[in-house]
Amino acid sequence: MHHQGHDLTQSYIQAALYLGVFALLGAGFFARYIGPEVARAQAWRLWYLLSLGFLLALGATVYGSYHAVWMLGDPSLLLEYWTETSQGNLLAARAVLMLALLGLSLGWARFDRWLWPPLALALLLSLALNSHAGTKGPAIYLTDLVHLAFGAAWAGSVLALALTWPRTRFEAVRVALERLSKLGLISVVGVGLAGVVLAVVQLGGWDNLFGSRYGRTLLLKLGAVAAVLAVAAVNRRWLMPRVRQKAVRGLGTVSLEALLLVLVLALSGLLASTEPPTPAPHRLSLEGNTGAQRYSGQLYAEAGQVQLQLELRDLRGQPLNPAPAIPLRLVKDGEAVEQTLQPLQRAQYRTTIQVPPGTYEVTLALPEETLEYTLVVPAR
Ligand code: HEM
Repeated sequence: MHHQGHDLTQSYIQAALYLGVFALLGAGFFARYIGPEVARAQAWRLWYLLSLGFLLALGATVYGSYHAVWMLGDPSLLLEYWTETSQGNLLAARAVLMLALLGLSLGWARFDRWLWPPLALALLLSLALNSHAGTKGPAIYLTDLVHLAFGAAWAGSVLALALTWPRTRFEAVRVALERLSKLGLISVVGVGLAGVVLAVVQLGGWDNLFGSRYGRTLLLKLGAVAAVLAVAAVNRRWLMPRVRQKAVRGLGTVSLEALLLVLVLALSGLLASTEPPTPAPHRLSLEGNTGAQRYSGQLYAEAGQVQLQLELRDLRGQPLNPAPAIPLRLVKDGEAVEQTLQPLQRAQYRTTIQVPPGTYEVTLALPEETLEYTLVVPAR
């Protein structure tokens, strides 16, 4: 397991970015597709959400760039970073996209209908390319894009409705709620399926769900998602019918759902800035010096077995003489398999051990130093 240092500033930047982008796109999506009438009635409130989202996301992007060059050691390189590195280009492009989306919502362009959706998707793509998914090839960052698109349309619209329902005409709110409820059902499936794929790819194995910091952060996020789904179910089963019969005063539970979604976004920021567990290898080459000896060889796992080849020499390159017996130990889930390797000829060792699949801690007790490795034995 690799526990890498965790940069909390990075988590705050990511959380602000997600919240900002979801607010910017959510307000836009809501005004266009979910509750145009509510949006007209509460134009100012939606405008607050839109501009606040824009400022948060822009601030996170600019500060994120600054943080990156600062980590590189020279904040004065900011301009070069934006113009000359691909990472910087991406952040600059993102800032331009956000400006264009803000402009569209101000009514700057006539072709809003055709411009808004692709620009919104491009903005989300800029997030996906910059995430852990961005390093795993097109299929995975497109999955991330699906996760983000459903998430932003739905969760963003919930944020928008939560801010605009008070003092809005009942009928307009009802129409918006009906649409949001349909969108929610589809989105939960889309977000969930894409999320599971991302989780499987990033975790690489069950063990890592509980056994890595990334896995535990994901569990925390899933806890918050479960709370959102519980409230969403209340909205569907309890609130919807009462809204249809005009038997409720307000949409308090929608506001609660929005608050919980803010928590999910904050935890997504934490997740996106936590290093995913690096899978242990199937094959390791062993090479090094321990005091007056040199060892070389390889440790190799395939379905159901581990193979070891090893050679010990002295510093002049001669096979070690006399050659020692070497204890080998494989441990998985507290259960150990042990073997003492005897030299075959002239300090060469070779062994094959049958073991069930899983992740093993392998120790080799050389005379002057004990070597430790983590090895994955694949299933058949
Ligand atoms: C309310 C529902 C959800 C929302 C609003 C949400 C939001 C997000 C956001 C904003 C990101 C960042 C994407 C990026 O940087 O490109 C993300 C990433 C991710 N989400 Fe979700 N998510 C939700 C549900 C889920 C569920 C149900 C799962 C798993 C079953 C999941 C698993 C993941 C994973 C594995 C990542 C990748 C993080 C990384 O880059 O390392 N999410 N999510």
